[in-house]
Amino acid sequence: MKTMTCIEDLRQAARRKVPRAFFDYAESGSYSEQTLNANRADLERIRLRQRVLSDVSHRTTKTAILGEPAALPLVLAPIGLCGMQHGDGEILACRAAQAAGIPFTLSTMSICSIEDVAAAVDKPFWFQLYVMRDRGFIRALIERAAAAKCSALVLTVDLQVLGQRHRDIKNGLSVPPELRINNLIDIATKPAWAASVLRGKRKTFGNIAGHIRGMENVNTLSVWIAGQFDPALNWKDVEWIKSLWPGKLILKGILDVEDARIAAKAGAAALVVSNHGGRQLDGAPSSIAMLPPIVEAVGSDIEIMFDGGIRSGQDVFRALALGARACLSGRAYVYGLGAGGEAGVARAIEIIRNELDVTMALTGVNSIAEIDRGTVNAV
Ligand code: GLV
Repeated sequence: MKTMTCIEDLRQAARRKVPRAFFDYAESGSYSEQTLNANRADLERIRLRQRVLSDVSHRTTKTAILGEPAALPLVLAPIGLCGMQHGDGEILACRAAQAAGIPFTLSTMSICSIEDVAAAVDKPFWFQLYVMRDRGFIRALIERAAAAKCSALVLTVDLQVLGQRHRDIKNGLSVPPELRINNLIDIATKPAWAASVLRGKRKTFGNIAGHIRGMENVNTLSVWIAGQFDPALNWKDVEWIKSLWPGKLILKGILDVEDARIAAKAGAAALVVSNHGGRQLDGAPSSIAMLPPIVEAVGSDIEIMFDGGIRSGQDVFRALALGARACLSGRAYVYGLGAGGEAGVARAIEIIRNELDVTMALTGVNSIAEIDRGTVNAV
């Protein structure tokens, strides 16, 4: 792992090791990928102020996320199908996050179930919720997350219908992989992946398979979503979820000032400014473009987190400078997972932490709280 010096190295390694359908699944955006590309391009445009001779010998990346101490302002984002990037991928990523002192978020569409992860790690993790038509199932899922002592519930609000990702259709993405000839040839060249996934606890959607009647043999994410996700989801449901969930609620997928105002009044502990990594509304603005107006409108009422294009510590710094309290990152650690399992995720976090630390030193900043608008050039 020592020769992996940046997230792009992990990405290249994952591309070699993980079957194409799963690598592409994580990598893709929806439709023409305009929003996916804007997320990165707009972050890269933000220039950092080089400051010198200001004694940065006492700097620390330590912070608090939702009132809990964290080693750096980073959260591993909920990502579906992690257990198909590497066997037991959710458990490995959660262990790496906890060892590094940051939160891990388990996706509803994970391979390992809530209970699998809870049994395999020492500390609480966050659980991400998708709301399905079967409200009895959703109630049970929330109860399962509470029983597993999850420390926050992350309600994703921007994916009740799926933005099409062309490559998933072309690759015939399914869990486990469909045994088509091109998949078999691909898997045959990735024996370490095959061994890890075969050894893994589960080969399907651990939280939901067997829990929803009539969906026993469904193995395609898009079919799950079209058949089960409830497009009627609205702000009243947020109240209902709040009444069921005893802990902190985070609303993920807010990209508009108007929605942010409603979210702040809905009693959530935090919101995540997000366009789902450019995987949903293609043509939407980048997340970083919407962060400043949302911070200005509701930043004093609700904790604001950010995701969308984070690939480095410099990117974390940029989002913090524009008002985020913490960043979620998905692809960066999924590349690590595909490249090297738990050690790969640990490396991804370490890379971002070290980059953030050096960036703080070279911008003359000693603490996370000092990273403000004044640390970047006017945007
Ligand atoms: C689901 O969460 C996805 O973005 O694929």
